[in-house]
Amino acid sequence: MAETTHHQALKQALKASQSWWDGMGVDVPPAPPTSPKALKKQPQFARKPAPATKITPPAEPELSDRLVKAEAIAKAAPTLDALKQALEDFDAGVLSDHAQKMVFARGNPQADIMAIGEAPGRQEDETGLPFVGEAGKLLDKMFAAIKLGASNLYITNVCNWRPPGNRNPSEEELALCQPFIRRHIELVAPKIVIIGGGVSQQALTGKTGIMKTRGQWQDLKIGNNEFPAMPLYHPAFLLRRPELKKHAWHDLLAIQRQLSEL
Ligand code: URA
Repeated sequence: MAETTHHQALKQALKASQSWWDGMGVDVPPAPPTSPKALKKQPQFARKPAPATKITPPAEPELSDRLVKAEAIAKAAPTLDALKQALEDFDAGVLSDHAQKMVFARGNPQADIMAIGEAPGRQEDETGLPFVGEAGKLLDKMFAAIKLGASNLYITNVCNWRPPGNRNPSEEELALCQPFIRRHIELVAPKIVIIGGGVSQQALTGKTGIMKTRGQWQDLKIGNNEFPAMPLYHPAFLLRRPELKKHAWHDLLAIQRQLSEL
């Protein structure tokens, strides 16, 4: 079987098994990497008997090296297209090895509002678009309630790959994605940033405790710019706690007021 066909078959089988476990509500441990890029990083089987001296497999780049690289690559991206390509090419370790697609953004990059969620889920990983599952439907409804449709919104996440097993991104992974989301905000230069959920809030502002901070305007400092930012409950959280929708409605009205004053 040709290498690419074999790789596709392996990837499909893994995907089918992963969706089955997802459907059962079970967090699946990370599957072994299948992409040719990732496989190249695996120690290769020796064709000849192993020599007496111990061979050390090629080391994964240190996190600090990856961070330096991420910072340099993100800063150097002059446009959104360049940033998207840089992310497509970026080796984010476990994240990019296991995700099907890098999830960049959807909506209008010229919109006044940039909404930033946490990380892609299963449907986002399959389509390469953020917030297209159940949480995304609720997000769209929330914005429609204050008369904001697809042309008035630009939507992305603080993490561009679905973490294996749908877990939250780790602190290291968020740190790795941070230069990209900060550059993303700089390039879009929205009038208002909406921070969706506690993970995004921590990644963007370092603050914890979304239950207390939601609805309170913050200044997001990026380079020489400051963006007014409003933390909201994550729509996936609101799906589990519908009684909190009244707070989200209150916060959406504050955003609408701010927009009308721009
Ligand atoms: N949850 C998020 O935070 N982002 C998505 O894109 C989907 C679900």
